[in-house]
Amino acid sequence: MSRLGTETAFEVLNKARALEREGKEIIHLEIGEPDFSTPENIIDAAIEALHQGWTHYGPSAGLPELRQTIAGYISQTRGVKVTSDEVVVVPGGKPVIFFTILALVDEGDEVIYPNPGFPIYQSMIDYMGGSAVPIRLREDRDFSLDVDELASLITDHTKLIILNSPHNPTGGVLNRQEIHDIADRNVMVLSDEIYSRLIFEGEHFSIMSVPGFKDRTILLDGFSKTYAMTGWRMGYGVMREDLATHITRLMTNSNSCTASFTQVAGVEAMRGDQSSVDGMRAEFQRRRDVFVAGLNRIKGFSCRMPKGAFYVFPNITKTGWKSKTLADALLEGAGVACLSGTAFGDFGEGYLRFSVANSLENLNKALEWINEWTKRNL
Ligand SMILES: Cc1ncc(COP(=O)(O)O)c(C=O)c1O
Repeated sequence: MSRLGTETAFEVLNKARALEREGKEIIHLEIGEPDFSTPENIIDAAIEALHQGWTHYGPSAGLPELRQTIAGYISQTRGVKVTSDEVVVVPGGKPVIFFTILALVDEGDEVIYPNPGFPIYQSMIDYMGGSAVPIRLREDRDFSLDVDELASLITDHTKLIILNSPHNPTGGVLNRQEIHDIADRNVMVLSDEIYSRLIFEGEHFSIMSVPGFKDRTILLDGFSKTYAMTGWRMGYGVMREDLATHITRLMTNSNSCTASFTQVAGVEAMRGDQSSVDGMRAEFQRRRDVFVAGLNRIKGFSCRMPKGAFYVFPNITKTGWKSKTLADALLEGAGVACLSGTAFGDFGEGYLRFSVANSLENLNKALEWINEWTKRNL
């Protein structure tokens, strides 16, 4: 159990809440969830489903109608034929990471994962006794990865490569060429595409779309970020049918199934009006532009424009402070909650992560407070 890691965002949130109880005003830019409400049509579909009796156990792999809808959506957006037997619906995107690593990684297997990156990857690899091999994402490459460097990390023991594009915490996006180059290697890939609809520049390109690579891809996507449904707990994995059978058995052993009425609402989310998705993306883009420009005016901060997701990842090395110390100081001294880059792995040193899932008014206030704090302290 001591090998299992955690997600610092929840700890910082608790600390910020404790300061609020003492009467301090805090602007929350630490947690990675849309501040918008779930669109009304999805909420209405769930309420109706509850009244219609969708309150019982369902199949472990998900309701057939939702699996069919997901298969159709992935076939269309990734340009590769997917059937519903290759889809497993689970409670959130996270269980796809958990189950995939549980199913594939044995003691001593090597797994290459992005660093900085979503902390659950390393946590789960360590937990299974695997060897977590970081691929460093560098700012001067706009936080995409260096495919030659990736190739140099692959050995006979490499079981899995984890990709995440658009990327948390940097907002980096892998382009078509980079994905094709990665697909030249003969390994399984867990492709975390939870932010696939939150892309501001370029296109989302999945490794599953590379001809011949479908059978080596486990694709993760879901509802949390796209439809502002983090608390509903619903996501899905798309993978070879034989692997889907194993992941389904893990579902039977753990959750039995994802909540039935949420899955009915999931069908509405995917088939219904998509204008709220576009509206949220446009708003995130507006906020990103304002926040990045504002950070670049603050002493010691320099920030690239993220291409996707809703995070901003400024370089703070010129402040002369360590990331964790600066994040703590900004929370206590400036009233702005953010995360240290090191919450995403050792290569996050020198950076902070701010989520722009907050109002423009609060983002502007946060910029002002950080600026005043740096003038007093740097
Ligand atoms: C890269 C990445 N993958 C997966 C998840 C998990 O998403 P969910 O809330 O649907 O479990 C997150 C959530 O922050 C994430 O950032």
